[in-house]
Amino acid sequence: MSKAFNTPQQVIYICTGSKCKKKGGKELSKFFRSHLKDTGLKGNIEIIKTDCTDRCKLAPNVTLQPENTWFHQVSEQMAHQILQQHILGKGRNNSEAIPNENPSDPED
Ligand code: FES
Repeated sequence: MSKAFNTPQQVIYICTGSKCKKKGGKELSKFFRSHLKDTGLKGNIEIIKTDCTDRCKLAPNVTLQPENTWFHQVSEQMAHQILQQHILGKGRNNSEAIPNENPSDPED
């Protein structure tokens, strides 16, 4: 008999491929992990480190699911905004949207 499996309400995918790692991907993972623990959301929101997501020019990259929101060139300040606006649900306001959320493909 298998154990019960808890499905998280939200998943934060953090690219820790070589370029994203070099530009702070690993630190972003620690940041989110620490804040989820502090806010008691650790069981509801899962963090998954990924390999390269093929958007290296926009490193470091973070994706939220199931809303399918992609963030590029994520700085520490942006990580705070993502946490407040998209994870804790505070201050969600389109006029304060994070500037480079889902930018056009740099390859275009
Ligand atoms: S290493 Fe993150 S997109 Fe390539």
